[in-house]
Amino acid sequence: MKLIIAGSTGFVGTELVRQALSLPSITSVVALSRRTTPVPSSLAPNADLSKLKSVACEDFGNYSDEVKKELSNADACIWTIALTPSRYRAVPWDEAVRICSGYAVYALETISKLSDANRPFKFVYFSGSSAVRDPAQKPLILGDYLVMRGEAENKVLKYAAGSNGKVEACILKPGLITAPGKTNIVVQALATVGRALIGLPKIDVGDLSSALLSQIVRREGFEKDTLFSEDMERIAKAA
Ligand SMILES: NC(=O)c1ccc[n+]([C@@H]2O[C@H](COP(=O)([O-])OP(=O)(O)OC[C@H]3O[C@@H](n4cnc5c(N)ncnc54)[C@H](OP(=O)(O)O)[C@@H]3O)[C@@H](O)[C@H]2O)c1
Repeated sequence: MKLIIAGSTGFVGTELVRQALSLPSITSVVALSRRTTPVPSSLAPNADLSKLKSVACEDFGNYSDEVKKELSNADACIWTIALTPSRYRAVPWDEAVRICSGYAVYALETISKLSDANRPFKFVYFSGSSAVRDPAQKPLILGDYLVMRGEAENKVLKYAAGSNGKVEACILKPGLITAPGKTNIVVQALATVGRALIGLPKIDVGDLSSALLSQIVRREGFEKDTLFSEDMERIAKAA
């Protein structure tokens, strides 16, 4: 299986690449980011580095022919590129929408057309547990951001629904993603406050990644089109 991991330089992307290199059923890992993806540290002894191809993309709204070539004939793509709630205010709103939503939709439309028409192309859009698909449910805190992420979820699911089975999409809606020893004190504090106030779930990045990769290689496809932290905990335990 050829798997594209977009946002491979990020927190989640790095762990996905690390684990994918050790899974025998994944024969090719395309690490797609705006800069070169470093080789992850702490690789498992059975990791196969020859599977890794780092692809640096200059324009996520218009792929060059060279980038398209690298992305062609993929079986699946996990899209983690986005601005997290702590970062989106650093850019103008239109740009935040383009990065969090536009890039993912363009990727889905473009890469699925470059894949083998005889088998379904799997696409995972990383969102968050608090994103809302109905603008009428706009939360008081981070409302515009959470509605925008929910709209991106809708677009991805709508595209898959209209693809005649060509695209299988899954929306991942984790709460806080943590890593032992790596999660900084601010995130730890947020996790504690978030869990106390709104029951924000947390999940370890290793468990999340192993659960997701098991869904990617699953012959029957995704268990369902939307997976929350509790689903991923359960799947990780089974995996
Ligand atoms: N971390 C959490 O606790 C958490 C919780 C729930 C949901 N999520 C979701 O999970 C996904 C991944 O989160 P993360 O924590 O791994 O985020 P991250 O560490 O900030 O990584 C984000 C990735 O997106 C890339 N990126 C950011 N701006 C870009 C731009 N303008 N053009 C191209 N690439 C850009 C980054 O590239 P550079 O490395 O070059 O900056 C990086 O590869 C996101 O959708 C996030 O909303 C995260």
